[in-house]
Amino acid sequence: MSDHFDLIRQRLARRQLLRAGVATFGAAALSPLAHAASAASAAGDSMPAGSSAPGFPSLPLGHGRNHALAEGYRSKTLIRWGDPLAAADAEPEFPLDASAQARRFGYNNDFIAYLPLDGSERGLLCVNHEYSIPHMMFPGYADEDSAIAQLPVESILAEMHAVGHSVVEIARDSSGWSVVAESKYHRRLSPLTSMAVDGPAAGDERLQTQQDPAGRSLQGLLGCCAGGVTPWGTVLIAEENFADVFAGQPDRIKDSHPVEARAMSDYDIGDDKIHWARADRRFDIEHSPTEFNRFGWVVELDPYNPSATPIKHTALGRCEHEGATVVAEPGKPVVVYSGDDSEDQFVYRFVSSDTYRPGDRAHNLRLLSTGTLYAARFDDSGKGEWLALQHGVGPLVPEQGFNSQADVLIDCRRAARLLGATPMDRPEDVETHPGTGRVYVALTKNKDKTAGNVANPCVPNPAGHVVELLPPGIDGARDHLANHFTWDLFLQGATEQTAAPALSNPDNIAFDARERLWISTDGCEDFGHNDGLWCTATNGPERARPRCLLRCPDGAEACGPTFTPDGRTLFVAIQHPGDMDGSSYDKPATRWPDFDSTIPPRPSVIAIERSDGKLIGD
Ligand code: FEO
Ligand code: CA
Ligand code: CA
Ligand code: CA
Repeated sequence: MSDHFDLIRQRLARRQLLRAGVATFGAAALSPLAHAASAASAAGDSMPAGSSAPGFPSLPLGHGRNHALAEGYRSKTLIRWGDPLAAADAEPEFPLDASAQARRFGYNNDFIAYLPLDGSERGLLCVNHEYSIPHMMFPGYADEDSAIAQLPVESILAEMHAVGHSVVEIARDSSGWSVVAESKYHRRLSPLTSMAVDGPAAGDERLQTQQDPAGRSLQGLLGCCAGGVTPWGTVLIAEENFADVFAGQPDRIKDSHPVEARAMSDYDIGDDKIHWARADRRFDIEHSPTEFNRFGWVVELDPYNPSATPIKHTALGRCEHEGATVVAEPGKPVVVYSGDDSEDQFVYRFVSSDTYRPGDRAHNLRLLSTGTLYAARFDDSGKGEWLALQHGVGPLVPEQGFNSQADVLIDCRRAARLLGATPMDRPEDVETHPGTGRVYVALTKNKDKTAGNVANPCVPNPAGHVVELLPPGIDGARDHLANHFTWDLFLQGATEQTAAPALSNPDNIAFDARERLWISTDGCEDFGHNDGLWCTATNGPERARPRCLLRCPDGAEACGPTFTPDGRTLFVAIQHPGDMDGSSYDKPATRWPDFDSTIPPRPSVIAIERSDGKLIGD
């Protein structure tokens, strides 16, 4: 492993040179903004946006049944799994049945978007619900295997209604944030909700099923993990681990459906959640071999229109999408960055065909329907290239099994691999710095790999890292439409703790009002402590020196950090509290957040503020 750490040290050393202005790396020389920041900092002035370091002392690492916050911060539980979305509904009675769950906030909250209705006082909280954990949701099962083997169909239907997405109207008053009791915006999406589909794969025979012979009326979404927000006020929901709920072995359909059997071999069709096929035969690949192709997309939802049909945009490709981060400049095509969170999968960029028109919502709502998908190749030189996934070009031809652009998009993993994209250490969230335009890619880990590459040098990589991708140009004016870029290693996850607490396993990321990078973690139990939420500057002397603001309760990870526009509230989704070895509904490791002996642990969104009301992170 030492060779790989040498590589990392060389890159970090080069970064020190960059910081001192001694060397330039492609277009990555220090920007005027960064120089101004360091001058202001030296003079003791308040620092401008883009350069702030966190102003709070880092929390120590550790454990605890409750969550913990850095000094000077407080939190309020905003909404919990099972909380009613209809004013007529009472407090939940656990376990929830399917009809109760369908009207209530879902399980395992992940991505959060805050879309304003009235600035930072009232808005729509749009929340992904990633996956179910049956032995934590229903009594009587010691572990997941026994729940999957025995769960009645009624409970499986409740599981289905527990995942997907929630839209919740929230408002702030003197007591803090709360859910508006009755709202026309409250909405639940699940694996049973009707979806539209557009782009090159819409209507393709590989999306057609017995239920939907036209291949244009899809049912539901799965594995809703990270996501994104468009400047025209919609939410992008990335379907990630959809394969987990499909039953069957691709080998058994290789004679009847050879194309699908080969495509499925690029996925780990799980043995862990395969009981869904008992309740809904769509999830049995032998019964419905093409249903599998109807998931793994980026879904656009208009939360301001409660009757809008969500749209699966096939132009953005199909994989285990994690995150969909939009860059939109007036008069230019729109860019969407996304990771494919599996070992040795790729980072993608979509570029729309048409251009963004501020204020023309009807036009902008069609932008993600047509465009070009690219996968990233990171080169040894520190440069990189976006490789277009275009049918008929290079290896994406019938001889390789690509008969159309629909084939390329449905099997975009294989297409990207044939083009020579760089396999990554599980790309999770991607974010663009709102000031500099640099792009940050969280790579959570790759524990079992036996070979590395220059952008993923640790072999194995149990603690993950963050890569900084620099579109050409200078900070503040970077060209996200260019097909080349430079890149650098931003941060390597810690495999052991030193004097200062250090971060491992980056997952969801976000920027705050002062352009600090926030990184939530998923996997720190491997290093003996709970996951949490960290904050770091991206330039200046505190670049890539994260401090921990939030430590999760036992068994949980922190997801979906997002801020109100004024930067004074931070919403965090606490996912899978109590999910640890030996923990179950009946004997949970924690009963966060209620700590009531009759209530199981509940994934919940918390609203974090400073006790003095000032900006989060300062
Ligand atoms: Fe759903 Fe990649 O985390
Ligand atoms: Ca994630
Ligand atoms: Ca994010
Ligand atoms: Ca995660």
